[in-house]
Amino acid sequence: MAEIQFLLNDRLIKTSSQEGLVLLDFVREHQRLTGTKIGCREGDCGACSVLIGTLEGEGVKYLPVTSCLFPLGRVHGMHVVTVEGLSKETLTPVQRAMVEHSGTQCGFCTPGFVVSMTGFALESSSVYQDDPRDAISGNICRCTGYKSIERALSEVSEQLQQKPQGSEQMAWLIEKGFVPPYFAGIPARLRAIPARRPAELTSSTSAPTVLLGGGSDLNVQRPEAIRDADVAFAQDYASTAIEEQDGFVYIGGAATMEDLNRSPLIAQTLPSIRAWMRLVASTPIRTIASIAGNLVNASPIGDVTILMLALGAEIELSAQHAQRWLPLEELYLGYKTLSKQQGEILSRLRFPSTTPQSRVNFEKVSKRTFLDIASVNAAMRLEVQGDIIQKARLSAGGVAPIPKLLRETSRWLVGQPLTGETALEAAQRAQSEVQPISDIRGSADYKRLLLRQLVMAHFAEATAIPVVKEALL
Ligand SMILES: Cc1cc2nc3c(=O)[nH]c(=O)nc-3n(C[C@H](O)[C@H](O)[C@H](O)COP(=O)(O)OP(=O)(O)OC[C@H]3O[C@@H](n4cnc5c(N)ncnc54)[C@H](O)[C@@H]3O)c2cc1C
Ligand code: FES
Ligand code: FES
Repeated sequence: MAEIQFLLNDRLIKTSSQEGLVLLDFVREHQRLTGTKIGCREGDCGACSVLIGTLEGEGVKYLPVTSCLFPLGRVHGMHVVTVEGLSKETLTPVQRAMVEHSGTQCGFCTPGFVVSMTGFALESSSVYQDDPRDAISGNICRCTGYKSIERALSEVSEQLQQKPQGSEQMAWLIEKGFVPPYFAGIPARLRAIPARRPAELTSSTSAPTVLLGGGSDLNVQRPEAIRDADVAFAQDYASTAIEEQDGFVYIGGAATMEDLNRSPLIAQTLPSIRAWMRLVASTPIRTIASIAGNLVNASPIGDVTILMLALGAEIELSAQHAQRWLPLEELYLGYKTLSKQQGEILSRLRFPSTTPQSRVNFEKVSKRTFLDIASVNAAMRLEVQGDIIQKARLSAGGVAPIPKLLRETSRWLVGQPLTGETALEAAQRAQSEVQPISDIRGSADYKRLLLRQLVMAHFAEATAIPVVKEALL
């Protein structure tokens, strides 16, 4: 492919380095910008956080990512901001707040927190409205104690109350010193970077190209192999659009979990989406993690996969000269075995739009509430007329070798009245439909019990019926 061009802080970078190299290594080793730290290299600690800016309308949208997982080839045409790009001589209001509230001790995590909080300052949507701490959900500090960092964030949040919306926002942030003056010229400079033409994807098996979404699975599992591989990016072959058409919600094969979290259409279709997505990874991971990657990774506990199974999703698989739609549940043949050919891209998915008769819920139990993978997760979609269930889809993760659609329980639910007894019976039937194994996330018995409670929780959350109380004890 042609060389990668992007803006790194205020400099234009042109490089022919490996497309699969992680951004962290490029920034630290090739550019000697060592303010960005290496912690876990698995997306967990946030020490490597940087901001990526992409053109949106007249301006640039900035989001935090973990640079230890983000492939260099993806940054073509973007603005990458490291802690060095935020200030040279004086402290920014974010840095000042961290100092004044004693938000730093050894300082190892501090650049990551500063970058994430600056991302919070640059945010123009309402995504952090409920809890500004979501902006630092991907950052871990092992010595300061979070209260002082939270106080620093509150102070920043208070200062940002004065921030104007729309086109005046950037000028205000520059005037107050949140970002340096060169940010004003970034949109024009990004527009001047020529687009790249992606290579044609083939199904050749001699030198297979590795298809990457955000790399949040592949770069955890085998980073060296990805670095040296011939890579292609799903974003070059599929869109990120989320739109409604003919009674279906369509999601592009390159859309990320954060696109789902921020989509006004999804908020309308699934009003609880933000609460559910807070249980899925962290903001920087959701920014890079694609929905297609979650489905194709085929983890038995993939959260978006479980939600999509219950919603009734179908996936569009596209190869060079062919296209087919497949019900999502038919993708999974066995543990990480898919009915998908090499070279086929998940180009879109779709699920039937919800209606006032729809009752949808998602539940997840993990050892930690946030930033943890599920012991068991589950989702439910019902279509209800009067008090009678017309259609039902229940799904569960962590209870079988594949993300599981609970076909028998779903079938049984159709025609049943919406009562506490129905909920209880469904929960019992679901338990007998699964084969959990004991592992570090819990014993088989515990997972079976969890599933029962989660099915009851679906009915408690998504329907107005009082669930049989003793059953939840
Ligand atoms: C710290 C951390 C926390 C996490 N927390 C959670 C969590 O709470 N819940 C959860 O469900 N997951 C979690 N994950 C897992 C991960 O983020 C998801 O599975 C993610 O959605 C994968 O998407 P990706 O684009 O990064 O995939 P990649 O790593 O790029 O790819 C994964 C697989 O999908 C394939 N692929 C990607 N896009 C396409 C496409 N369009 N068509 C065909 N194949 C494709 C790739 O070839 C590869 O086989 C976490 C990961 C990390 C690192
Ligand atoms: S080094 Fe820990 S998230 Fe990247
Ligand atoms: S200050 Fe030491 S890890 Fe946060």
